Amino acid sequence: MSRVAYVNGRYLPHRNAMVHVEDRGYQFSDGVYEVCEVRDAKVVDERRHLARLRRSLDELRIRLTMPFSALSIVLHETIRRNRVRDGIVYLQVTRGVARRDHAFPAPQTAPSLVVTARNLDGSKREKEAQQGISVITLADLRWARVDIKSIALLPNVLAKQAAREQGAREAWLVDSKGFVTEGSSANAWIVTSDGKIVTRPADHGILRGISRAVVLDVIAALGLELEERPFTVAEAYAAREAFVTAASQIVLPVIRIDGRAVGNGHPGSIATTLRHEFHRHAEFS
Ligand code: PDD
Repeated sequence: MSRVAYVNGRYLPHRNAMVHVEDRGYQFSDGVYEVCEVRDAKVVDERRHLARLRRSLDELRIRLTMPFSALSIVLHETIRRNRVRDGIVYLQVTRGVARRDHAFPAPQTAPSLVVTARNLDGSKREKEAQQGISVITLADLRWARVDIKSIALLPNVLAKQAAREQGAREAWLVDSKGFVTEGSSANAWIVTSDGKIVTRPADHGILRGISRAVVLDVIAALGLELEERPFTVAEAYAAREAFVTAASQIVLPVIRIDGRAVGNGHPGSIATTLRHEFHRHAEFS
């Protein structure tokens, strides 16, 4: 089946889905994005993803003229046209096409909107969750506003590639004080030896993950103990469990950090429980 992409008002064959060379996303990474999980052909937590999109757009002063109700229709139509059952839908908004100049273009410049969707291999994802993943730690080289879901992802790209080259699935980024901020494309969590779940507060130092918010709801519903505070790499090494959360992978147990086994070296029971409970606390639309 051939894939279809939505590009500025049109559904195009994926291979012909192009943006202009002077799109500000291409020239300056001047744009924002969202990735939502698709499950049973429904969007998971669309409301919260669109609320975060609105915030990212506001922070960068990009004015998407399309109403969010219409954007929602485009998301669902792109999913339908690509026959996505279990996978992801991706949307990107940039400040539009204009002659290259760093400052904002004329106010009437229309933002660009692109939406794609694809199936992911469910059994492969499940196997990965059952096995657990390895992470490495690296210096966090990103800018001070990573709470905005910007398409400017070069430090994340380099971190993910470094992880891959070292046989790991994810890189955990570490601030100048030795605290873990988050993964290159996921939020980072540990469970201490006395069973407390720890994750960094969602200030400007991390992206306020939607999956993170759902997991916080699951933790509250199950009456588990939570500490929202920064944790160090040393604490992560000594943790009983570790895991990451993101829309594309939900809750993924971490079994090795910098080559050292976490806990007994197998996915932990809390991470596994949070993964199983996740969709009971998510919204579907
Ligand atoms: N990444 N932190 C970073 C840096 C991320 O890129 C992501 C998501 C998250 C988790 O956010 P959420 O739970 O809302 O997916 C945290 C997406 C999936 C990506 O870039 O593909």
